[in-house]
Amino acid sequence: MTTLIKGGTVVASTGAALAEVLIDGEQVAALLQPGSAIATAAEAGAQVIDASGKLVVPGGVDVHTHMELPFGGTEASDDFESGTRAAAWGGTTTIVDFAVQRYGEAVRDSLDVWMAKAEGNCAVDYGFHMIIGDVTNDSLKEMDLLVDEGITSFKLFMAYPGVFYSDDGQILRTMQQAAGNGGLIMMHAENGLAIDVLAEQAFERGDTSPVNHGYVRRKELESEATHRAIQLAKVGAAPLYIVHLSAREALEQVAIARDRDMNVFAETCPQYLYFSLEEHLDRSGFDGAAYVCSTPLRSHHEHHQQELWRGLRSNDLAVVSTDHCPFCMKEQKELGLDDFRAIPNGIGGVEHRMDMIYQGVRTGEIGLARWVELCATTPARMMGLYPRKGIIAAGSDADIVIYDPDKVWTISVDNHHMNMDHSAYEGVEVTGHVDTVLSRGKVIVDNGQYLGRKGDGRYLPRSLCQYLQ
Ligand code: URP
Ligand code: ZN
Ligand code: ZN
Repeated sequence: MTTLIKGGTVVASTGAALAEVLIDGEQVAALLQPGSAIATAAEAGAQVIDASGKLVVPGGVDVHTHMELPFGGTEASDDFESGTRAAAWGGTTTIVDFAVQRYGEAVRDSLDVWMAKAEGNCAVDYGFHMIIGDVTNDSLKEMDLLVDEGITSFKLFMAYPGVFYSDDGQILRTMQQAAGNGGLIMMHAENGLAIDVLAEQAFERGDTSPVNHGYVRRKELESEATHRAIQLAKVGAAPLYIVHLSAREALEQVAIARDRDMNVFAETCPQYLYFSLEEHLDRSGFDGAAYVCSTPLRSHHEHHQQELWRGLRSNDLAVVSTDHCPFCMKEQKELGLDDFRAIPNGIGGVEHRMDMIYQGVRTGEIGLARWVELCATTPARMMGLYPRKGIIAAGSDADIVIYDPDKVWTISVDNHHMNMDHSAYEGVEVTGHVDTVLSRGKVIVDNGQYLGRKGDGRYLPRSLCQYLQ
């Protein structure tokens, strides 16, 4: 079947132009000049989608999600079915989630478990990173096999002692292994040992409410860990990708490394661009628990958000991901009613990334092309999925979003599709709306209707990071 998307402005990371998109089966066949003889000929017999007045953008690529993550004494409330469906509603057509090797487990066995969770359940295409939670000789060897199979990135944690934490020696050994097999090391850069001391002291003082999560996870402990991760990556000669960066001081460390031509990259997330410790984490009663995530929301007095937007412009921040890790208030966040340390860490937002970053286009923080670059093209290249994903071009998968740049609407728990009993974005008014979504040529969302099916999404083996120098 052929499909022609006509009348829209096609946006790429390099710019935007009026063009018609011809799709043959699952792939883009051509970008055509509107009104050209070839476009007119293509229209005959094709399913025609009118995108007049709309933006036609590559499907979003969210390279940091946690469907069904067992964490904080519970499990993330979106499974692969509900979470990827919500992604589709929000214009994200590819996710890269995290398979988890826990302490004492074999990497291969853990990966098999996560593959089984996703297989046949996803609404959009998906790949995996591997969390290495137990650095042993066997785990290191298995990394090489995973790279050969398309799992080309490995997350380590400098935080969460006793859960996922790796010490500096383990980190260095993993980096040395990645230097040999070409894998990308993704780092949760917070000094977890120091944080746990401050957290215990806060609790002993009787400071038990959610905002204390932000007070004890100090910006210095993010920037120190970021600096340390960068130095270890230099010694280990591995490429490094800092995940969910929130502090301007950590961004400074990334900028210094990048100025020295190191293979150091970083992402931030919408929550750090829009939410703050004072306005969200410090909400009255237990409401702030909805905003407990790590790294934490930062103080608005310290202008982190402005610096993060600047980093997104300068490319010291190359990617926006969600770190989608949803927990309901009821029975999940509530685990920490009397002790902020027991609140499961995470915010659900896989559905809102494209819209929230588009707000930056509206306010002049970034341009239209940069929006696409941050949300689709660069994440695809960073994680070895380009040009299959992240661009609308001949031969690419026809993952396409038709986006109304002017529609105004309000985000609410009543209209989102994530499996959560609240929305961190409740009441946020946005301009811009995902009207239609195609995943490999198939319309899966159209004007308020979901037309896809569980299992539409396919597993994506990935090549190495495509930015390595
Ligand atoms: O708070 C967060 N970020 N939860 C998910 C786990 C992680 O560290 O990415
Ligand atoms: Zn993390
Ligand atoms: Zn995460």
